[in-house]
Amino acid sequence: MTDFFTLGIESSCDETSAAILNHNQVVSLVTATQEVHEKFGGVVPELASRAHQSNIIPVIDQAIKSSGLNPHDLNGIAVTQGPGLMGSLHVGVALAKSLALAWEKPLVGVNHMHAHVLAHCIDKNLKDNDMFPMLCLTVSGGHTQLVLVHSPFHLELVGSTIDDAAGEALDKAAKLIGLPYPGGPHLDAKSKVGDKSKFSFSLPHPMGLNYSFSGLKTSLLYFLRDQSKVNENFIEEFQDDIAASYQNAVVKYLLRVFKKALEKYPVRCIGLAGGVSANSQLRAEFTQLGTELGIQTCIPPLSYCTDNAAMVGMAGYFLLQQPIAKGNLIPNARLPF
Ligand code: KG4
Ligand code: ZN
Repeated sequence: MTDFFTLGIESSCDETSAAILNHNQVVSLVTATQEVHEKFGGVVPELASRAHQSNIIPVIDQAIKSSGLNPHDLNGIAVTQGPGLMGSLHVGVALAKSLALAWEKPLVGVNHMHAHVLAHCIDKNLKDNDMFPMLCLTVSGGHTQLVLVHSPFHLELVGSTIDDAAGEALDKAAKLIGLPYPGGPHLDAKSKVGDKSKFSFSLPHPMGLNYSFSGLKTSLLYFLRDQSKVNENFIEEFQDDIAASYQNAVVKYLLRVFKKALEKYPVRCIGLAGGVSANSQLRAEFTQLGTELGIQTCIPPLSYCTDNAAMVGMAGYFLLQQPIAKGNLIPNARLPF
């Protein structure tokens, strides 16, 4: 098979990342994480754009150098068009346009949420592909989506959150119990030593195949307020157990709606995607669900779950196989699915 090299560029939130893929195989992947937001307890959009500006050329340069390729070997460039932070998206899109113009390469704009799902195709044998149809649960900092993947070219959104995303629900809870930003991984670590059945949080009422996390977050807030009135050291004393119990509620709720979706859409494979799929309890219970149901389970390696350019290159590769829409590529912070 002849080579087909795609340069993927990701800058939608707080990771500046570049990758080169040969078809669906990752040749190089370089990601610069922005630590500047830590002291603010959340991503500061203006600081994110500035950090992308200083990181993006070194990151792309390093991805090309470590691939051993020359820019002229590339068959196309793919960049995240949205959704994401407008200033951050602008940095990636403007640079990708310049490179496409200078190197005379085709350019495609990638939907970040499609890219999370298509991370499943990286390094797989696409020829005898038995993954589809797949029901994918995408859980990230900004989105929670149920996606029916008919093929890499046909993705159908069948459910999503009506308010907070799962990642936000975990990050906000972590903040409430005094854990640093980004809270998800810290909550995960605390949960490993805590007792998940110590406290119980009632799960939100079912709403078809959609999610809502705001009630769960509010119930934690009231719970902490009430308990702290009785014992002012309650949070410090029970931090591990609160973390474990709350994370358990989020995981149970994610899987409850997912199982409902599976009843409606019998599929060949179930998949987990997005940054929250790094969560150890979610990964374990999702895998167990697949085993119980006798369905193939796909969870990409961690480096392809959190924001990265390999998934953008992967989604871009599929777009580059199709007729490419002519016209000016404009970033869209609210790009629809
Ligand atoms: O997909 P992602 O890297 O960025 C977005 O597109 O949002 O997801 C980031 C989210 C954050 O909310 C972060 O706390 C969460 O993923 N996360 C985790 C873990 N690692 C990252 N949540 C729970 N457990 C983890 N181990
Ligand atoms: Zn993401």
